[in-house]
Amino acid sequence: MGSVCIDRIGELVTNDPGGTDRPAEDVTDDAHRLGIRRDTAVVVDDGRIAWIGRAGEAGPTDERIDVEGCAVLPAFVDSHSHLIFGGDRTAEFDARMRGERYAAGGIRTTVAATRAADDATLLANATHLLREMRRQGTGTVEIKSGYGLSVHDEARSLTIAGRLTDETTYLGAHVPGPEFADDVDGYVALVTGAMLDACAPLARWIDVFVEQGAFGADAARTILTAGRARGLGLKVHANQLRPGPGVQVACEMGAASADHCTHLSEADVAALADSGTVATLVPGADFSTRSPVYPDGRRLVDAGATVALATDCNPGTSFTTSMPFCIALAVRECGLSPAEAVWAATAGGAAALRRDDVGRIAVGLPAALTVLDAPSHVHLAYRPGVPLTRPLLAPRPDQAVGASDHSG
Ligand code: NIG
Ligand code: FE
Repeated sequence: MGSVCIDRIGELVTNDPGGTDRPAEDVTDDAHRLGIRRDTAVVVDDGRIAWIGRAGEAGPTDERIDVEGCAVLPAFVDSHSHLIFGGDRTAEFDARMRGERYAAGGIRTTVAATRAADDATLLANATHLLREMRRQGTGTVEIKSGYGLSVHDEARSLTIAGRLTDETTYLGAHVPGPEFADDVDGYVALVTGAMLDACAPLARWIDVFVEQGAFGADAARTILTAGRARGLGLKVHANQLRPGPGVQVACEMGAASADHCTHLSEADVAALADSGTVATLVPGADFSTRSPVYPDGRRLVDAGATVALATDCNPGTSFTTSMPFCIALAVRECGLSPAEAVWAATAGGAAALRRDDVGRIAVGLPAALTVLDAPSHVHLAYRPGVPLTRPLLAPRPDQAVGASDHSG
């Protein structure tokens, strides 16, 4: 692979506050958290960060890329997506934008289309979406099943997801499968029985949608307990459409993340702040469901919770692959500062996946970098909808992402 020097970086976001080279007056507290270094160069050798120092001062390398004062950030860590699906839900979105409400039952439309699609079609669709993610600066991607809802189709979905990332999540508990509309207990038995047997070897995580029309608190505990016994890490779709028990279940069970968090009580905020469970906000879903409220990121950060940002890319509620769009929404609608939103989209996503080798830039780590066609991370929110990101030294779009390399 050889060595390359990325030179003349105007603003380097490292997410390593200890690495800030000067406590400059122009660096605010939350920008300090980003570990911003100015006028730097980074040397990458054999895919790893080998040196970080002043612009123009790196030793000889095989190649040099002059980024002419632009900002460089860790590639985004998108810790929540549903890329394995067939069909689309354009008509449902269109109806919603003309006043209809979102209901979780729309998931079954996608289940029918996913079951009808062959493996090659599902893989091609997911690969296309992954390429979109890459173009928008994303490095690591988590991908869920959850549109199969049969033993065969959940296992098939996870096998396809596993060709694209190591961060695969078994979401058999998305909604009860269509064959179990009147037998939720029977479906929970399947999800924790034969379906888990087939899916556990293919997944790193297990997730459950806690919501009216999906699963209640007791079923969620049963499903998460069964997944944990098979070595899976825990995640929960929580408090998306109304207040509910999802966040409490996630925190009490030590889940890595509670995702959505749109409708939180004071007790939910306190539970997130007091636990190791990351609050993953997916404001693209609040946008596309025309939710009357967005998650209150400000309240979560002020309470001391760890906040992540993800796209939740799926055909029903959030058909975006764009982390920059989610950053802009988090700033405008969730009350985060630009620095907090960028941290949530990088280091926060890494925390939600319990990874310490992605989401930051430090010597020894694998190099997954995004260069902005802009001088500052603030432009991600300041210039919404503008294609500012360019992946630097990321894997090719068709290459596996999120590979667990914890040696750094
Ligand atoms: O994260 N909330 C549950 N699952 C998806 C939506 C799935 C769908 O409507 O297809 C979500 O928003
Ligand atoms: Fe989701």
